[in-house]
Amino acid sequence: MSASQAPEASVPPPRRETAVSGKVAGSSRATETGGIAHRETKLTGGVRIAVTVEAETTGPDDVERMCSVALRGAADAIARTAEPPPLPPVHATGIIGRSPEIAELLRMMARVAASDATVLVIGENGTGKELVARALHQISRRANKRFVATNCSAFNDNLLESELFGHRRGAFTGAIVDKPGLFEVADGGTFFLDEVGDMSPALQVKLLRVLQEGTFMPVGGTEMRKVDVRIVAATNRDLAGMVKSGSFREDVFYRLNVVTLRVPALRERAGDIRILCDHFLARLAEREGRRKRLSDACLSRLESHRWPGNVRELENEIERLWVLSGEGALIDEDLLSDAIRMSSVAPSAGPTTKSSPSPAPLSLYAMKLPDAVETLERQMIADGLSRARGNKTRAARELGISRRNLIRKVQALSLDAGTEDDD
Ligand SMILES: Nc1ncnc2c1ncn2[C@@H]1O[C@H](COP(=O)(O)OP(=O)(O)O)[C@@H](O)[C@H]1O
Ligand SMILES: [Mg+2]
Repeated sequence: MSASQAPEASVPPPRRETAVSGKVAGSSRATETGGIAHRETKLTGGVRIAVTVEAETTGPDDVERMCSVALRGAADAIARTAEPPPLPPVHATGIIGRSPEIAELLRMMARVAASDATVLVIGENGTGKELVARALHQISRRANKRFVATNCSAFNDNLLESELFGHRRGAFTGAIVDKPGLFEVADGGTFFLDEVGDMSPALQVKLLRVLQEGTFMPVGGTEMRKVDVRIVAATNRDLAGMVKSGSFREDVFYRLNVVTLRVPALRERAGDIRILCDHFLARLAEREGRRKRLSDACLSRLESHRWPGNVRELENEIERLWVLSGEGALIDEDLLSDAIRMSSVAPSAGPTTKSSPSPAPLSLYAMKLPDAVETLERQMIADGLSRARGNKTRAARELGISRRNLIRKVQALSLDAGTEDDD
C-alpha cells in the first residue's frame, strides 16, 4: 500500500491578501477505480488539493480512513507553507510626515525591512529614531516576535552587560538566580540598542560577537549562548568621528553601519510641522473628548521655530498649549513658550510700523548672524512700540534700552512712522 500526498495548485495561486488555511472549504469529492481511491478537496483561499491512496489488500473502510488522514496531512502542510498574513505597509506605522525627506526615509525602510541586515538609525534627539526602529520591526517578518529596547547610556558597564547578556547565579553579589539577558528575550525578534555611541569599548567587543555570530556569554557563565536577533542601533552622536578619535571601535562601527537610516531634523522638514500639530491635537482631542485648533499666527510661529528638540519638543509644546488654553477652543500665539516666541518670527509686524518687515516665517537660526540680529531687533522694537502705542519712553523702558538708543535704532531700521514723539 502506498499513500501519496499531492498538493496540487490546480487553480492559480491565491493572491497575497488571501490567506490560505488548512480548513476545507467545501465537501471533498471522491472517486474510486479498482484499488485506487482518489480524494480531492478545496481549501479556503481557493487552493485545491488531491490525494491518491492505492490500496492493495485493505478494505474500503481503510481506504476511506487513509484518504482522510492524507487529506488532513496535505491541508496542514499547505497551511504551514501558506503565506503569512500581510505585514502593515510602512506608511501605516505611525510615522507622520509628507515631506520628501520622510518619503525617502519610508522608502528606505520598506527596502531594508525584509532583510535581517543590521540597521543604524542616526539623527538628533527627538527626531523619531525609536519610532523608526519600532516601525521597522512591525513591517518585518519578525513582527510577531518581541521588540526589545535598551538604552546604553542608562546603565553603567556592569549593569548593561548583565542586562544585555544575562547572568548566572552567583556571578556577583545579589545574583541569586540565573537571569536571562535581553538578547535572549528578543530571540527571533528585533533588538533596539539605543544611544549605542555611549557603549564602552569593553562592551563593544562583546557586542561585536553578537553582531558577527549571534553569540554571547552570560555574566559568570561558562557556555556561549546563541540567539537570532535583528539588531537596530541608534545614536545622535557622530560615530564616524568617534572612530577617528578612537572612542568607538572601527570594527563595531562597520558591523552596525550595514544600512544607515538618517532621520531628518524637524527644521529640515518644516512643511511637516502642520500635520504633526494636527496629529498631536487629534490625539489629545480623542483623549479629552473635545477639539481645539491653533490660530494661524500660532501655527506660523511654530513653523518658523528651530526645534532643537525636534518632534519630541513639538509634541510637548502642543500638550502644553492644550493645557494652558483651558476651556478655549482656539489656541493663540500668546500661549507659546518663550523659547518659541523668541526664536520664531511673527507672521507680520505691528501695525504702527512704516515699512512692515513682514518676514516670511523663517527660522532666525537659518539666517546669517547679522541678519538674524537685525530681524529680531526689528521685531522686538516694532512690538515694543506697538504695545506702548508709539510712546518711545515707555517702549525703551520696557525693552531695557535708553530712549536715545531706541530712537537711533528706530531711525536706522526705518521704523519711525506712526510713532508719536513723547517729548
Ligand atoms: N514622524 C513622526 N510622527 C509622529 N510622531 C513622531 C515622529 N517622530 C517622532 N515622533 C514622536 O516624537 C517623540 C520622540 O520620538 P523618539 O522616537 O523617541 O525620538 P528619538 O529616539 O530620536 O529621540 C515620540 O513620542 C515619537 O512618537
Ligand atoms: Mg530615543
